[in-house]
Formats: sequence, C-alpha cells, structure tokens
Amino acid sequence: MKVRAWSTSANLGPGFDVMGIALKAFKDVVEVELGGGGPDALVTRVNGPYSSSVPIGRDNVAAFAAKAALMMAEQKLTAKIKLWKGVPPRRGLGSSGASSAAVVKAINLILGDVLSEEEMIKAAAEGERAAAGHPHPDNVAPSLLGGLVIIGERIVKIEPSVKFVLAIPWIDIPDRKTEAMRSILPRKVGMGDFVANSAALAMLVLGMTTGDLEIAGKGMSSSMVDKLRSKMIPGFKEVKEAALRAGALGSSISGAGPSMLFLCDECEPALAAIRRAYISIGIPASVMVVEPAEGAAGER
Ligand code: HSE
Repeated sequence: MKVRAWSTSANLGPGFDVMGIALKAFKDVVEVELGGGGPDALVTRVNGPYSSSVPIGRDNVAAFAAKAALMMAEQKLTAKIKLWKGVPPRRGLGSSGASSAAVVKAINLILGDVLSEEEMIKAAAEGERAAAGHPHPDNVAPSLLGGLVIIGERIVKIEPSVKFVLAIPWIDIPDRKTEAMRSILPRKVGMGDFVANSAALAMLVLGMTTGDLEIAGKGMSSSMVDKLRSKMIPGFKEVKEAALRAGALGSSISGAGPSMLFLCDECEPALAAIRRAYISIGIPASVMVVEPAEGAAGER
C-alpha cells in the first residue's frame, strides 16, 4: 500500500499545539507491507531528496507511529516501510509528521479502516513523541486529514480558501530542534499574555471561517509563543516587516521554525519582498506561494 502525506505548518501563530494546516509544498510517500509477528515496525529503505537526513530501521519516526497504529488496532503484525522522503526535515514543515501520518494512513487502509480519525492522529503523534519528546498533534492531524485542523476535545476541520507565501531559510539547524524550541517556552503564562493570545486565536479562526483574511492575518501575527521564539529565528524581524510592507496580511513562524508563513491575498509582491529581505541579510532561502493540501491518501 502506497500513501502520500503533505507538509504542514503548525500553530499559525496563536494556535500553539492546537492548530495546523496541510500545505501543498512537499510530500512524503510510504509503501507499507504487513507481515507476521509483532506488533513491530521498521523502515527498510529510505530514498528521495532528503533521504540522508533520516535514519532507517526502528529509529525512524515512521516506525514508532506504525507500531503505535498496530497496537491501537490490536494487530500482532510487522510493518515493513519504504519511505520516499520529500519533506525537508528540521524546517518547521511537519516533516516527521508527514512520515508518521502516511504510515498510519497506509496501515489503516490495509486493515480495512479500523481506526477512527482520533485514533489515527493519536498513533501518528507517537512519531512526534519520538522526534520531539512530546506527542504534539498539530502536524500529524492536518497531514492526515488535510485543510486546517483544530485539535481540542474534538477534531474540527475547515477548508479555507487561502494562499500563503512560505519562506524556508537554509540555515544550519541542530538535531532535535523542535525539542529545543519547546524547552525555551515557560511552563506557566501570565493572565495578560493569555488574554491577548486568546483574542488573536479567536480572530484567526473567525477570519479563516468567514473568509475575512484581514482579520485572520491580524490574529495570525500575534502569538505569545512566536514572540518568545522569534529571537531564535534569524531574519525574523526583517523578513516579517518586508512582507507586511509588501501587502502580506499576516505572518507566523511555521511550527517551531525556522520557516515562516505569510497569509496573502495578492502574493506576488510579498514573495518578491521576502526574497529581497533574505538576500539583503545574506541568508539563502526558498520562497514560494502555497495553497492548502488534502489529507493523506493512496498514491499510485
Ligand atoms: N506545535 C509544535 C511546536 C509544532 O510549535 O512546538 C512543531 O512542529
């Protein structure tokens, strides 16, 4: 069974750990075979443009997610996984989430749709626990379901008609970057920050659901977590200012960074301004216009 899952951008600013959107920018493709023994899972082969950045065997995040899916489905089987790695790792684009989402979807399809959406998200999040030390669901959920997904007591999905500029700086990033970017966040937050972040998240959701992109952009740009993390993102201030001056409606760090996401109506001027900003600060970057993607699905 061959399945692909798209890259994602988690948080969209104020939606830390509760919101993410699937983006048609990069994809991972897995081919999964189930055999006897287990529950067990291993990646037997990795190829594709980013194959050298991820391990094979039982240490690949996809193996953790696959094993969790088999355990959840109470299947004593072994998953052998071939992975085509197309989502660049450590850029804040849900790379580990895409591998995890794709294997869990593949296993669920082979087993005849035995897992609910909630169970698939929970199993795939085990891949994130292995990658980042915490089973945050806001990359795997949109990678599995597509569109913009909110993860709370229930999983809510919307399909906003939006476009973004995605900017990916090619700077050196340490291993376990997400874990490091989570470790700088406080355990407790003040009431003032909580209220401001709540207002921003409400505006973001309202704007996305009603199609009022100015309101959505205002909400997206105001985030307690981005404020703390932005100091660690090279070029954050310069690039954000250039994008907003060129008509971008909102901006956020993509996941734990260093990529950034800009909501736009007319995207070309913002794209050009972001490119120029990265050039002027001397950081090589890929900058592209992206749209929301559909969920993980079979691939020929
Ligand atoms: N919500 C997670 C974080 C996403 O920001 O740490 C990581 O991709």
